Amino acid sequence: MKSARSSSNNCRIAVVGVHGYGASHVDRVARLAESGQVVFAAVADPRPDEGNPSLAGIPAYGDLTELLAAEDVDIVIVSTPIHTHVDLAEQALRAGADVLLEKPPAPTLSDFRRLENVVADTGQICQVGFQSMGSFAVRALVEFIDTGRLGEIEAVGGVGAWVRTQSYWQRTPWAGRRELDGRQVLDGAVTNPFAHAVVTALRLAGAQRVEDVVSVETELFRANPIEADDTSVVRIRTAGGPPVVLALTLCASEVRKPSLVVRGSAGSARLSYVEDLLEITIDGSTERTSFEREDLLVNLIEHRADPSVPLLSSLSSTGAFECVVEAVRQAKPPAPIADQHVVWVRDPQAPGDDRPIVTDVEQWLGKAVDSVALFSEIGAPWAVDQPAEV
Ligand SMILES: NC(=O)c1ccc[n+]([C@@H]2O[C@H](COP(=O)([O-])OP(=O)(O)OC[C@H]3O[C@@H](n4cnc5c(N)ncnc54)[C@H](O)[C@@H]3O)[C@@H](O)[C@H]2O)c1
Repeated sequence: MKSARSSSNNCRIAVVGVHGYGASHVDRVARLAESGQVVFAAVADPRPDEGNPSLAGIPAYGDLTELLAAEDVDIVIVSTPIHTHVDLAEQALRAGADVLLEKPPAPTLSDFRRLENVVADTGQICQVGFQSMGSFAVRALVEFIDTGRLGEIEAVGGVGAWVRTQSYWQRTPWAGRRELDGRQVLDGAVTNPFAHAVVTALRLAGAQRVEDVVSVETELFRANPIEADDTSVVRIRTAGGPPVVLALTLCASEVRKPSLVVRGSAGSARLSYVEDLLEITIDGSTERTSFEREDLLVNLIEHRADPSVPLLSSLSSTGAFECVVEAVRQAKPPAPIADQHVVWVRDPQAPGDDRPIVTDVEQWLGKAVDSVALFSEIGAPWAVDQPAEV
């Protein structure tokens, strides 16, 4: 365990999980190391490197245990499958490192609580990789809501319409699973691909901690042959804040940028959290502003060196999100969408890599958000057209 936190330019960083999304962490740490801001200490992954130039000369280990036994590290970035997050983060924290943990932090609320306890026990820092929390657009909108100029906030909504082909679900054994080998995974639209939409919408509604969520209702469906959901709606009642509704699909006709809407009695705001764009409409006039974002690793490094720098995505600030994960976990398994509501699209350039489109899904997502309603309440055909439960 280190007695004092090292300053940014000798901060030693390790990356656990170097393939898939981990490759972007590897590249970022390599760039920071090249510019002398940090030391790229080591990586751990059971799968060997496949020639990533950013990893040349970096000590590589088969797992985190070996890495921690051999290397002195200040920050461990965990970018591994969801069901490994909590064990690896705990191991790193207990070894005296701070952690940047990929989202979703934990597949169950009890795992999340366990990790919160480890953070409290060790006094180490855990930042969660919700990069939208680094967006100045989100902060600007939260501040604008607080001025009262949107009036009373009636609801926060989010529509997510993306496209995923079969290779997405086949890329890794945990993709699209709710459980794997007896472990909770929860890799569905709500809890993973659209996790940023969920956590950001909750932030706009003032809900960050577990205690900020009163209830979560879910309607989970799937058009793909997977275990998890790909077309879902969740409605969250927040303590003291507006209701939040998210209507999400990975079976859209085309990819659209996800957007969040804050509806107030005096105006509305639309946030594109992937583009850091904010549109505020009051009295029929719209002001559009584009923002920058801060990198969460850099923020963690700065916060370690100077605790007066706020941590942008602390573990405890993702507690409200974890309530949604828990509700999805406790919900009955996603219901298959009947064949008559799904069209399968074939790409001649990628034989076998088909994708489903749920008929008119965009229209129903918009309607759910506009009316703060679940699919069954607005009569979405696939939700109404379900076999009776026996
Ligand atoms: N923040 C974002 O925008 C974003 C985007 C994509 C993925 N993610 C998250 O990143 C994480 C990884 O996702 P992915 O799609 O790259 O997964 P993946 O399965 O493609 O890659 C995971 C990597 O971790 C390695 N690994 C597995 N178990 C390990 C262990 N015990 N120790 C060390 N390494 C191990 C694998 O060999 C692989 O290299 C997930 O939590 C995912 O939700 C975040």
